[in-house]
Amino acid sequence: MQSPIQAYLDGLHARVAEMQGGELANYIPELTKADPSWFSICLVTMDGAVYSTGDSAQKFTIQSISKPFVYATALADRGVKFVAGKVGVEPSGDAFNSISLDPKTGAPLNPMINAGAIATASLVAGATPAAQWQRIVDSIGTFIGRDLDIDEDVYRSESDTGFRNRAIAWMLKNFGIIDGEPMASLENYFRQCSILVDCRDLAFMAATLANGGVHPLTGRRALPLEHVERVLSVMATCGMYDFAGSWVYEVGMPAKSGVGGGIIAVLPGRFGIGVFSPRLDPKGNSVRGIEVCRHLSRDFGLHVFSRAGDPSMALGRIYTADQAPSKRQPSPTMRSYLNDNAHRIKYLCLHGFLAVDGIEYVIRRMIEMAADSSSFILDMHQVDGLSESAARLLNDARLRFAGENIAVVFSRIHRRHAIKHFLSTTSPKNDRGYLSFEDNDLAVEWCENHLLGDLAMPTRDPISLADCPLLRGLPPELLAQVEKAATVQHYRQDESILTTGQAGDGRVFFIADGHVSILVPLKNGAHQRITTLGPGMSFGEMALLGQTTRSATVVADGEVSCWVLEADDIDRLAREAPTLRIVLLENISRDMAESLRRATQWIAALA
Ligand code: DON
Repeated sequence: MQSPIQAYLDGLHARVAEMQGGELANYIPELTKADPSWFSICLVTMDGAVYSTGDSAQKFTIQSISKPFVYATALADRGVKFVAGKVGVEPSGDAFNSISLDPKTGAPLNPMINAGAIATASLVAGATPAAQWQRIVDSIGTFIGRDLDIDEDVYRSESDTGFRNRAIAWMLKNFGIIDGEPMASLENYFRQCSILVDCRDLAFMAATLANGGVHPLTGRRALPLEHVERVLSVMATCGMYDFAGSWVYEVGMPAKSGVGGGIIAVLPGRFGIGVFSPRLDPKGNSVRGIEVCRHLSRDFGLHVFSRAGDPSMALGRIYTADQAPSKRQPSPTMRSYLNDNAHRIKYLCLHGFLAVDGIEYVIRRMIEMAADSSSFILDMHQVDGLSESAARLLNDARLRFAGENIAVVFSRIHRRHAIKHFLSTTSPKNDRGYLSFEDNDLAVEWCENHLLGDLAMPTRDPISLADCPLLRGLPPELLAQVEKAATVQHYRQDESILTTGQAGDGRVFFIADGHVSILVPLKNGAHQRITTLGPGMSFGEMALLGQTTRSATVVADGEVSCWVLEADDIDRLAREAPTLRIVLLENISRDMAESLRRATQWIAALA
């Protein structure tokens, strides 16, 4: 099926192709050889999907579109302070070839006019002009995602006729803006303008800026993130020269044009756009290029000042531990406390990229729920990213809630290092850090303990075999015989009591003290905890149903003591008193029904 985006671009291309106004640039003789009918549009998404239409394979010279990328390279190589001492960031409102210099320092007003661009070409790293040229092609090549060539004829043509730029370069030398040999820097500037690109290349350059400096397909970083905003700011205010104000007013995207006929427009975090048509208006901007960007901005609502997304989208479902308790099987007293209070543990499913506005909404909802909450589990499973400022607010809120004895914990961040990074780096110095759990079950179990702690509820009760649900209903004389047959075993923390796949030896375990985790192996070699059992609970009872190999691994969560019954002893006792087997099987069935009910509840809560 054809994408509607593609159909839209094809339609836009057909409509705008009818515009015949504008002239080819002729001040560089070689540029007059272009075919005025060439026209292409390309749009690249942040995951590298490409929509293109028209003459998308037609090569042309990049011209001034190289300027923001060489400025970016100078910032990366020499740092903001040094570059700022040589080139300003004020819009001149003048033509691209104007000689707009600061009257006191002689520094060009911005890096988009020729004077500023020639100065920035002299700033990139490299001990010789040849090394600096190599740095320029490598850097622009990283933005585009391939090795580059230049159009030698266009380069020669401009170098032979560029007297005004030559004068500008000498003036920059006069003011001490260019330190080295100005003519060598000027030749590098002429070469950078002659780099051959097609419309797709332009869209990828724009998309790399939109993507925070990382090429969407190669994954290579072309520019440190901290400089991306700087480059886009200069493009927004100066990229279209003496058309810059109208451009922001009508189109509203950081952009850059070139006299070769190209225009790039950047919609941060969303799209990179390239348009190519060599018919220029008197200001040196592509006539059709401007028209295409106007339409795209209006039809797709791309103006950077247009209303952003709805912050409430950051928060999806809210549910409680009443609906989705932990898989642990608590003792009866713990269960009754939890039954009454589990609604005070709230799960909040967060969504999308969390910026300050979205997090403000989430925190506001948490504050509204605080009076009836003991803890919040922020489920990050569907979060794509987190801004540094949002992470700072979230940490601040977490500490404020902690001051009111309300815990805020995270679950399912998994391996998203960018999220972890900002949560760690924005956490205040005296803070012991945030709690993060691999799954919601571990998180809710922690929150249940927090709740039990709140209620000054002992998490362990001394028990006897008579308290064990599996033996419930056994006549006292039979129970006494079972107690006589049982032995007590002790396990250290993290000791494996049973292992998945291990041959069944028929032992059944009843926990006297401590907790064990029941784990099942995953395909990747890791384990998934399916439940935690505490005092009174039993495991290994499937042996009584004739299962010969162990289906799960059981690990001691701390010091653990168990009563252990051998299958042979149970068989022997059951031969003498068949009631024993009947009671055991009834209790196992009841337990299974309860597990099934809880699993169904969990699935319903997640749906
Ligand atoms: O300095 C020059 O004249 C060029 N080679 C670049 C000019 C340019 O692309 C101006 N932008 N619209």
